[in-house]
Amino acid sequence: MADTNMIVVTTQDSGILARFLTNPAASHPRRDRATSTTQPAHQRRPNKSPALRVRRHATLASLPSSSAAAAAMVSAEAGIDYVLWTEAEVSARVGDVAAELAADLRALPEPAVVVGVATGAFLFLADLVRRVDVQLAVDFVRVESYGAGTVSSGKPRITADLKVDVAGKHVVVVEDIVDTGNTLSCLIAHLEKKGASSISVCTFLDKPARRKVSLQLVGDGKFYRGFECPDYFVVGYGLDYAELYRNLPYVGVLKPEMYKKDSSN
Ligand code: IMP
Ligand code: MG
Repeated sequence: MADTNMIVVTTQDSGILARFLTNPAASHPRRDRATSTTQPAHQRRPNKSPALRVRRHATLASLPSSSAAAAAMVSAEAGIDYVLWTEAEVSARVGDVAAELAADLRALPEPAVVVGVATGAFLFLADLVRRVDVQLAVDFVRVESYGAGTVSSGKPRITADLKVDVAGKHVVVVEDIVDTGNTLSCLIAHLEKKGASSISVCTFLDKPARRKVSLQLVGDGKFYRGFECPDYFVVGYGLDYAELYRNLPYVGVLKPEMYKKDSSN
């Protein structure tokens, strides 16, 4: 059940967040959970980025109020608990994925259509395609879920469609993160209806722990992913909380207090 102290929103991303809000343990990283995964970033988690820690303290100290909203307006990284993948790690991994994708696209008889899911995939897509030295087309779609209060309906719909005709084309859907899988399942069905001959998915992050729908790729479609993401609410490198944090060049875990509404407001 939705907590009345939580921010009420209707967008898809916030619906995802709502599930974290109703299960605070899932949104708040704990040291005992960290040891149960092989994620390299977890091993480094207790050693917070000194640069991030220093800059954040300096920013917060200069604020007249300790309100999370005020902090968020001052610094792009205010509210980040710790860095999960640094800018350098992101860049290196995107390079690896791009190399794998490029090799596969080079083997195709005609240019593929790379379809970004707005808004979250914008940085990943831009970095990815610049490193794929193969002719391709780029387009975007927007997919949103609507639900009552903080709970996502789980029924996404396409709110901005493609311009490019994908009939008979190899499509690579580029996404920021696959969580339940609802968004991509809906999108894959949509692209299949449009006659795409094969559909691959290339996601920056993959959170398999939260999957509810398994993705059915089409034709010779392949699944590419940057990192396996632990079950935390993450932001940065395109991923948002309430449309903020997308411009961070790294991926960080958001402090839970950043998405709890001040009950006095
Ligand atoms: P799905 O339909 O449940 O797979 O949700 C996919 C969408 O939820 C992604 O495209 C993101 O926009 C959003 N999302 C899921 N997890 C996170 C997260 O940890 N941070 C930010 N957005 C997320
Ligand atoms: Mg998204």
